[in-house]
Amino acid sequence: METPHAESAFILTCRGRPAPHTPVWFMRQAGRSLPEYRAVRGSGTILDAIARPDLACEITLQPVRRYGVDAAILYSDIVTPVHAIGFGVDVAPGVGPVVDRPFRDRSDLQRLRPLDPEADTPYVLETVEALVGELPVPLIGFAGAPFTVASYLIEGRPTRTWVRTKALMHTDEPLWHDLLDRLADLAITSLRSQVARGAAAVQLFDSWAGALSPADYERYVLPASTKVLAGVADLGVPRIHFGVSTGDLLGSMAAAGAEVVGVDWRTPLDVARSRVPAGTVLQGNLDPAVVAAGWAATEEAATEVLRAGGGSRHVFNLGHGVLPETDPATLERLVGLVHSHTGPDVTPDAEPTDHRPGGGRP
Ligand code: CP3
Repeated sequence: METPHAESAFILTCRGRPAPHTPVWFMRQAGRSLPEYRAVRGSGTILDAIARPDLACEITLQPVRRYGVDAAILYSDIVTPVHAIGFGVDVAPGVGPVVDRPFRDRSDLQRLRPLDPEADTPYVLETVEALVGELPVPLIGFAGAPFTVASYLIEGRPTRTWVRTKALMHTDEPLWHDLLDRLADLAITSLRSQVARGAAAVQLFDSWAGALSPADYERYVLPASTKVLAGVADLGVPRIHFGVSTGDLLGSMAAAGAEVVGVDWRTPLDVARSRVPAGTVLQGNLDPAVVAAGWAATEEAATEVLRAGGGSRHVFNLGHGVLPETDPATLERLVGLVHSHTGPDVTPDAEPTDHRPGGGRP
């Protein structure tokens, strides 16, 4: 199957091919930092908004219109599939995912039946279909990685210590692996359904993987994330693997089977580059709090990110999601800066390039 937007700067870069400029998009580019988002979002939970394709489509398009970013990301959430199969998850405003009856023992596995995208999340499929008809840029589909979703199901709400999650991991390893395996299947089914309707790339969000030591990551998490990425390999779309505080895990996250590895702001991109196999594309990694501090701070930090990114095999992004306090005008200028400071003709000390066949070389 031909990837949609195969010749766009985003898809070319994800494939490690030369692109006209460094592509840029922002995690959480749709959301509370945008007045037009607050105007249409409504008062229900985010899961209500996601279930309305007209609204989800409009919200996905808003940042593309305003910023001219090189990719759109589907407006949905990492808990959409587990919510849809009836695990009893909701997303509390200002808090995040909350669960009525958290995952406790083996009997809870029954509450994680396989996902039937057509029956369980028809609204996601409708949104993806409507978007690919309208978008001028590629659409990124996504899923929550097994570890990050498991941590919400086990803790019942966002945590800073992952104490119950790690207790299950370290006291009942067979159950832990069975849980992650089910969540891997859910992610695979969800991602495949998004790509079947036209998503041009996928991102696996393992936001909280950085809570683990490298040894625990490799033993308890890597097998399930590898399964997810292998489960979509035949689709031929670029696979992005992202987490926060994962500086020591970047090599494993690439080895899991990703063409693109997302990096947070704690690890400079040139350092990250030395930790992943040659040919891996990096995505990131401007500190979202610096962007919220305004343009002067953003310009300086972004210039350094572009330098460390090295001018190719780099998808510009923030190191995590846009903060609600961010001035959209700063993000708009940032897109302009990335586009104007990159590309074959703007490298300051490069020799002039002659694009004619055989030209420019003695
Ligand atoms: O623009 C985009 O990036 C696309 C949409 C998107 C959302 N959630 C919308 C959203 C994506 C890709 C996600 C994924 C997601 N959801 C992750 C992984 C990415 C990350 O941030 O690490 C995680 C951990 C979640 C779980 C979740 N959902 C949290 C922690 C929250 C924040 C709670 C809050 O209110 O601050 C949510 C809610 C949520 N998901 C919002 C948005 C725009 C904000 C709340 C709203 O508008 O109701």
